[in-house]
Amino acid sequence: MKSSPLHFPFEWPAAAGPPEALVTLREEPVVRVTLPSGDEAFLVTRYEEIRRVLSDPRVSRNRDRPGAPRMTERKTKVFQNPRIDRDPPEHTRMRRLMAKAFTATRVEGMRPHVRRVTEELLTDLLRRTPPVDLLEAFAVPLTLRVICGLLGVPPRDQGRFRGSLDEAWRYMGELIEAKREDPGDDLISALIEVHDEDDGRLSAHELHVWCVILLLAGFETTATQLGSGVVLLLTHPDQFELLRGDPALIPDAVEELLRCQIAGHSLSMLRLVTDDIEIGGVTIPKGSGLIPVLESANFDETVFPDPLRLDITRVNKQHLVFSAGPHFCMGAALARLELQVALEALMRRVPTLRLAVPPGDLRHHDSPLDLGFRELPVMW
Ligand code: HEM
Repeated sequence: MKSSPLHFPFEWPAAAGPPEALVTLREEPVVRVTLPSGDEAFLVTRYEEIRRVLSDPRVSRNRDRPGAPRMTERKTKVFQNPRIDRDPPEHTRMRRLMAKAFTATRVEGMRPHVRRVTEELLTDLLRRTPPVDLLEAFAVPLTLRVICGLLGVPPRDQGRFRGSLDEAWRYMGELIEAKREDPGDDLISALIEVHDEDDGRLSAHELHVWCVILLLAGFETTATQLGSGVVLLLTHPDQFELLRGDPALIPDAVEELLRCQIAGHSLSMLRLVTDDIEIGGVTIPKGSGLIPVLESANFDETVFPDPLRLDITRVNKQHLVFSAGPHFCMGAALARLELQVALEALMRRVPTLRLAVPPGDLRHHDSPLDLGFRELPVMW
């Protein structure tokens, strides 16, 4: 293992390609890094080992313990809530209860809403004079309106909680009370029913926490991925043309764009090692921070041949962008649905879409917890 720690997350040079450090990262199975907080952590770099640690009971999601490594100096209190154990078996119990309400049928039932919102936003977009910021005009409002539609947040409230965790927490408390009085055909009402009918096994506090997590986990990530995917397509005209000529490739293209994402990193995957663990011949001591680097798994050349090449016809789609194991993304099916609908409609309605600035001019956010591009100017 190299002795002087690198800094993580690595900086994306620009839209054009991944950080140099990510390209060579898998030469070592474990790499020591310094996080934005100043704390140290170990990166796990290779696909198979990443899969393994994601299901290892000695690798805990619950970092609300003395001395545990921190991502940044800022406290992320909802996601590390002392009254919620994010490890099995408590977490398994909660996921099972959530799954009673957040079903595949409910996600599929969102399709008409996703389509309607997509078409409306594109109609508005096409009325504007380019260049237009595709994030602000399309990706963010789409994913925000979809998660709000899923949860049952009324349209008039949809601007209330962006960017403020405290406001989201307060707002969700009020909304849960309102839905208790006047339930609707939405996920929050269904979760209240699970809470009420299941002898309170999903406690009121858990219900509150998970609704906030769904709200916040639900839109920025998908908007970021949509932006990243569009940039990738626009900078790979051969793949763009291939897709435009055969929309049946959309689901495959979405998986490949997720794998090759150029806007994400795994800082928020930070875990705590609760007992000594060996990875690739290296012993990681109890108490260490550990990050399974999903974007590195997705570039692992032993799993994805020629990994830096964007190939929407790639056969292996087992990327780890939604993680794996007990914390596998609860919204993966919804995110896939949104990305597929959005991409299909964008290519159909704005076939001459192109970047309004050279790709090298696109800037990522500065803060390590804000992923994606600051803006994405496009024209047509
Ligand atoms: C393309 C978009 C998305 C990406 C890349 C993504 C990625 C992830 C990842 C990597 C995790 C796992 C964290 C871990 O292992 O610790 C996760 C968890 C989660 N995601 Fe997503 N996500 C996306 C969209 C969504 C959406 C749309 C929702 C809500 C509808 C959502 C809800 C959640 C929740 C609730 C968890 C926590 C699961 C748990 O701890 O058991 N995500 N997501």
